[in-house]
Amino acid sequence: MTGIRTRLCDRLGLQHPIFGFSHSIEVTAALAQAGCYPIYGAAWDMPDAIAKKTALIRDLVGDRPFGVNLLLPASVGNETDRTAVEARLPAAHKAFVEGLRKKYNVPPATQTTLFSSQIRSQQLFAEQIDAALASSANAFASAIGTSADTIARAKRAGKLTISLVGSPKHARSVKAAGVDIVVAQGHDAAGHTGPIGTFSLVPQVVDIAGDTPVLAAGGVGHGRQVAAALALGAEGVWLGTAWLTSTEHKLDERLLRKVLAAKAEDTVISRSHSGKTCRLIKTAWSEEWEAPGAPEPLPMPYQQVLTGELLAAINEHGIEPLMYTFAGQGVSYFSEQCTVAEIVDRLMREANTTVAALLGQRATA
Ligand SMILES: Cc1cc2nc3c(=O)[nH]c(=O)nc-3n(C[C@H](O)[C@H](O)[C@H](O)COP(=O)(O)O)c2cc1C
Repeated sequence: MTGIRTRLCDRLGLQHPIFGFSHSIEVTAALAQAGCYPIYGAAWDMPDAIAKKTALIRDLVGDRPFGVNLLLPASVGNETDRTAVEARLPAAHKAFVEGLRKKYNVPPATQTTLFSSQIRSQQLFAEQIDAALASSANAFASAIGTSADTIARAKRAGKLTISLVGSPKHARSVKAAGVDIVVAQGHDAAGHTGPIGTFSLVPQVVDIAGDTPVLAAGGVGHGRQVAAALALGAEGVWLGTAWLTSTEHKLDERLLRKVLAAKAEDTVISRSHSGKTCRLIKTAWSEEWEAPGAPEPLPMPYQQVLTGELLAAINEHGIEPLMYTFAGQGVSYFSEQCTVAEIVDRLMREANTTVAALLGQRATA
């Protein structure tokens, strides 16, 4: 389909000004095939898995570009002894988590995840960065604060550097660090978000970024928002929630039903996932942590040491009431399962129609 293209499409050889974030290899590959720029989310992977998965993605996408994303919060320290940290967690928090396990009859997990076996630390981040930079990924995207040194290293490794920011302050610091693309991720987004809404954040970040291209992220689910993002000065959009509902993602069907049924107001900002504010689908998990008498979630990385095993068990055994995923306010626009290509096609058709209507209005005004 022909239609809206931006400077960034020409520079990166993209058919559409859409960047797609996903933790799924299949979605990553489908996004590349659909003419978008895929970004594989590697924050939940151990370094050796990053090497294996990026190699698999390269096989699937051929010469098409793809990126790899890490979450690198500077506030996390360097404690690496998970058992010692676990032993020091407050007794009331442990009792609350054990109470949830009993109340919902959650059997123990038989498989480990990164969060049930590790603790987020600067050492783990350094090993994840090494694996990402050694991979064949064309881009390195990072969120929740990336040091200027890491951006410089990624550039020296030949990667296109991308930083997700949620505030003008962070936009200024990644601009000063020389990042290649800034993603302005508003409060509407799935995952770790700041307090500023996408519509307010994007033009501010565009002004700060100057000649550095900006992508708009958070709540995008309709082509009108793609057109609006371009009107706000962005050169493209960055979507996450959309792909959860794709056929390629193969989301657990209990969770998929929740996502397809959810509207914007069924998402909630909660610290119960990681200790940092995060937008999730509202389920018994977030509600239990909000209930009177529930403890305050612990700061990152301790919350995930506290809950890692229970969450692994909830997902492994499909404990439906407690299952959740990150989801943005644009979830309202995804009420049936489609392929990645169908989602991209719908967004671009809607965006093209919107722009054509605007141009028609201006011509006759
Ligand atoms: C299931 C899921 C997991 C996510 N994990 C990460 C992550 O590991 N790193 C990151 O930078 N962003 C992550 N995000 C946020 C996305 O990068 C993106 O900014 C966000 O989804 C955009 O808003 P939208 O969901 O409304 O499209 C995640 C989003 C979803 C839906």
